[in-house]
Amino acid sequence: MALASTLAREQRAFLGRDRRRWGPHLERIRAFLGEGLAQARGPALVLGAGSGLEVPWALAPPGTAGWDADPLSRLRTLLRHRRWAPWEFGDLTGGMAALGSLALRSARQPWSGRVRATRTATRRLASLIGSLEPDAAPLARWLDAHGPATILAANVMGQFGVLAHRTVEQAFRGCDPWAPGEDDDDPLDAALRDWTARAVGAFLGTLGASGADLWLVHDRGVLFGDARVALGPLAEPWTAQLLATVPLEADDPLCGVDVLKAFPGRELERHQRWVWPVAQGQTHVMEALRVRGAGAAGDPGRPGA
Ligand SMILES: C[S@@+](CC[C@H](N)C(=O)[O-])C[C@H]1O[C@@H](n2cnc3c(N)ncnc32)[C@H](O)[C@@H]1O
Repeated sequence: MALASTLAREQRAFLGRDRRRWGPHLERIRAFLGEGLAQARGPALVLGAGSGLEVPWALAPPGTAGWDADPLSRLRTLLRHRRWAPWEFGDLTGGMAALGSLALRSARQPWSGRVRATRTATRRLASLIGSLEPDAAPLARWLDAHGPATILAANVMGQFGVLAHRTVEQAFRGCDPWAPGEDDDDPLDAALRDWTARAVGAFLGTLGASGADLWLVHDRGVLFGDARVALGPLAEPWTAQLLATVPLEADDPLCGVDVLKAFPGRELERHQRWVWPVAQGQTHVMEALRVRGAGAAGDPGRPGA
């Protein structure tokens, strides 16, 4: 429930932003996801479907399902696209509830329920987070049951870490759990980054194991500051592509996970990056990847064949 209300709030903020500079981003992401939907043989699955701002639902084969833990996402998609799609409202990481209850147990005194935003509480939480293993189990079960041949991850992966931070902040109810100073010195932030890397890794592992055709779009990087940014030719790591005249403050929302290495043995058919000026002082480097399904078309082992 906490996740649902956080996501509903985040989505309201997302949709309420000044979108005047979003045009080129929306064009590119809709073209990419639209191609995935147009090529899908049979019902597809759209993860992080949101309100469908980035998803051209008109191209989706009948029976295509959306997945988003925001309770208003399906209704917003109906209003935007006149499409009442089958929908799943679960947490894609499969681990946010466990993280939330661990944070609550660490943040509150068991006898009084009072919040204790002390260094002891945050350090204790930081040391316990390592034992959590987000495993994307609800997604794996759904994929087993429905076996979609095409899956689109529509700009959702980069949100896992943001939500993990919000989940912890909620447990500390207004008391700031973060250590003052640099994030590098904060054991809680470091533990959450490790958790996020495990969540992203498990999510990608589940997508890979499904054998479906994958169309993935995500924040590859987040840049802070008002410097104008452009991208040079495709290069690894993504930071090597940045063209800017001043040093940039960059964050990796995937916390070190290299998506290119997540699908060994699978053909990577498309790889693009572009810049999305999300808001004043915040620019995202977007990445789109199209990963061929396991087995060739017509292979009986291939989902949907
Ligand atoms: C940046 S928005 C993407 C917008 C969406 N693609 C659209 O076209 O409107 C990220 C979406 O992912 C959803 N989301 C984030 N974390 C999630 C999670 N752990 N489980 C399920 N949905 C999540 C949010 O509710 C939000 O709708």
